[in-house]
Amino acid sequence: MKTEHQLHIKYNVFNSLTDLPEKAQNLMKQAITTREKAYAPYSKFKVGAAVLLKNGQTFIGSNQENAAYPSGLCAERVAIYQASTQYPDEEIEMIAISGSAQDPTAHPVSPCGACRQSLSEYETKQKKLIPVYFMGAEGEIVQTESIKDLLPFLFDGSLM
Ligand code: THU
Repeated sequence: MKTEHQLHIKYNVFNSLTDLPEKAQNLMKQAITTREKAYAPYSKFKVGAAVLLKNGQTFIGSNQENAAYPSGLCAERVAIYQASTQYPDEEIEMIAISGSAQDPTAHPVSPCGACRQSLSEYETKQKKLIPVYFMGAEGEIVQTESIKDLLPFLFDGSLM
């Protein structure tokens, strides 16, 4: 016997930065500024991320590449690992991401699979959802209420 199932994910689309709630707007502006400073000489694809903690502190990250391609690190993980290093017990309130190739893209850039897995670890740990906002260099911003909306059938370690 076979039964068919479907998953639905909910997400919001904001037309522009000015449509975002104030906190998210400020955070996204930091992600954009950080993106411009990324070190991405190989892919030339720059990503900036900003993580807001409940205590009001912000941690930023940009992608960092090197000649041995796989050993670079994505912007999201640079930011969240630093946040968790400095404040291991502080709640993460939200994360904003902006990514673009050299020609500014208006297509929202969502976190890669490894970043989704990494970010979701902190959501599980804090037992509170982490909203994710992501965009290109300009244009629409996509928001999910939880990082887990981007990672169906997540491996969360509960079976280990
Ligand atoms: N990248 C990120 O920083 N975050 C993502 O979620 C997607 C990819 C970086 C990794 C690499 O430096 C470049 O973008 C191209 O893949």
